[in-house]
Amino acid sequence: MRREFWKGRGPPPRLNAPVPESLPLNIEFKREIQTIDMSPNSALSDFFKTSVEQVNSQLREYLKLDERCPDLLRQAMDYSLLAPGKRIRPALVLLACQACGGETIKALPGACAVEMIHAYSLIHDDLPAMDDDDLRRGRPTCHKQFDEATAILAADALQALAFEVLAKDVHPADAAIQCVSALADAAGSCGMVAGQTLDVQGEKENQTSEASSSTPHSSLLAPHSQTSEDKITILENIHRLKTGAMIRVSLIIGATIANAAVDQIESLKAYGDALGLLFQVTDDLLDVTSTDEQMGKRTHKDCAKGKMTYPGLLGVEASQAYAAELTQKAKDALSSFGQDAELLRDLADYVLERNH
Ligand code: IPE
Ligand code: IPE
Ligand code: MG
Ligand code: MG
Ligand code: MG
Repeated sequence: MRREFWKGRGPPPRLNAPVPESLPLNIEFKREIQTIDMSPNSALSDFFKTSVEQVNSQLREYLKLDERCPDLLRQAMDYSLLAPGKRIRPALVLLACQACGGETIKALPGACAVEMIHAYSLIHDDLPAMDDDDLRRGRPTCHKQFDEATAILAADALQALAFEVLAKDVHPADAAIQCVSALADAAGSCGMVAGQTLDVQGEKENQTSEASSSTPHSSLLAPHSQTSEDKITILENIHRLKTGAMIRVSLIIGATIANAAVDQIESLKAYGDALGLLFQVTDDLLDVTSTDEQMGKRTHKDCAKGKMTYPGLLGVEASQAYAAELTQKAKDALSSFGQDAELLRDLADYVLERNH
């Protein structure tokens, strides 16, 4: 099929071409950065070994798209979706389902759907118009490996695929509708995309604040007139939206598939709120304290770009203390679950202590 399409049009485009030497990619890429590293014998570590394999294998199945999908698009989707990420959001779907007494295998489509949205959000987050990054998950970012148009389109396609997977593979139909609706809400204009918008807007305002004559009604930060408490409130809102919303909905999807009781869902939402904020606080901290090699992405960029971050506003030590507080808050939210939620508690500790 592909060969015929290109007949008479010269050689087909080179896919997965090596990164040109002119790119400022000055580290040796670790092609397989560790997906998750924690004490080797912990139950959470064992869980991740199994769940990452299960999720990756199901994601591979979902990428077996029919012949209408152009080869280049499929390659770019595959490149980003199957790159070695930690798969934390899928783990949350599976663990929430398990904590609510459901069969985790039934939550696998939900786990894949949230990872698809996450992968799309990372592709867009790395674009020149957003964070302008060249390294992700230990590899060149999607737009560096392919090109900007292909990266944008691969992300678009991953977003659509996520909803198709939920609609077709979550059962019963009632649960599928609830999952589609919850994911649309969390990923969209009042969720993750809202957070990304405020993040980019804040960055621009910070960069121009010196000479700025920003109009008050559209200003996000108005840096000269706001107290640091105001700024922390604004930052918390950005983090809850850009990162927290997807973490929270991962738990809601797992619980919905397990047909959880209302009070179980409420407890998981409270856990997700604390964990989601914790996750972005530690991401901000790692940008300051870690290295490109360790993270598989660029570090020491947030401050230079004028991003609002916790270490930027509170300092490293106070941010670490806040992260510890959020970890306890997350664990406390699970008090009604007993032993069934032990891995979710362990996951909060992992997020606090993570080093990538
Ligand atoms: C990175 O998320 C983007 C943020 C929301 C901070 P992860 O740290 O989960 O990235 P991967 O999936 O492991 O690459
Ligand atoms: C990204 O936040 C959040 C989403 C992709 C929705 P960051 O911009 O801080 O993530 P990294 O640090 O690039 O992974
Ligand atoms: Mg960003
Ligand atoms: Mg970024
Ligand atoms: Mg970051």
